[in-house]
Amino acid sequence: MNEISLNGRRYAYEDRGSGTPLLLLHGFPFSSESFWPQLESPPNGFRVIAPDHRGFGGSAFGEGPSTMEAMAEDALGLLDALKIPAAVVGGVSMGGYVALALARLDPGRVRGLVLIDTQSFADDDAGKARRETVAQDVLANGVAGLTAGMLPKLLAPNAPAAVRSRVEALMLRQNPEAVAAASRGMALRVDAKPLLARFAGPTLVVVGALDGITPPEKAKVMADLVSGAQLEIVPEAAHLTNLEQPDVFKKLLEQFATRF
Ligand code: MLT
Repeated sequence: MNEISLNGRRYAYEDRGSGTPLLLLHGFPFSSESFWPQLESPPNGFRVIAPDHRGFGGSAFGEGPSTMEAMAEDALGLLDALKIPAAVVGGVSMGGYVALALARLDPGRVRGLVLIDTQSFADDDAGKARRETVAQDVLANGVAGLTAGMLPKLLAPNAPAAVRSRVEALMLRQNPEAVAAASRGMALRVDAKPLLARFAGPTLVVVGALDGITPPEKAKVMADLVSGAQLEIVPEAAHLTNLEQPDVFKKLLEQFATRF
């Protein structure tokens, strides 16, 4: 694990492989470790750079809410520190929201997008209220309740037991303060459809066929907005396609890498 200092705050990241820089942004409530297959065996053609969002994994927490824009600014700070003018930017679920925020903040830094088990929609009022309930619950009781509630929705029923237990352990290790701040940050995110409609770079949209959190219909909405986008619906995967079908995911990335 590597780290830089962003305004005096520790920001940790993994940096593996070689080729076109691919920033991979993790989902909620995880860390860069949730890309373990991609870090252990980086796809040919990509240098994988996977940071821990503020307060997650090895990165220090500032103060909340952790908006998608704040996490995107952190990732841009990392690109600056690594002297990378522009990268392919990818994210799983909340990481996808951060990728879309980054593309809105600084489109010139985005060579392409990889949107994995994520969506373009903002939360409705009921969704925003659920985020606040989650924030208050984890602050009062820790992340165990959130983990137990989310786990069955994250993975397909036949996901390997070793993946299930590592995903669970990873969630249980996250800092409740950071988790609450990210939950509140997600409630503040804006609709990304206008951004996608004007994004002109190569775009790969990947979704698990069994994803009930951000289902294939929502992936299709994103792919339909970007001219020439590639939509891949991966069988036998739910909301963590990169962990559930790492070989399929790797092939998709390797094909996509040839476009840069
Ligand atoms: C995630 O996996 O990052 C979250 O499920 C995203 C969300 O709750 O919208």
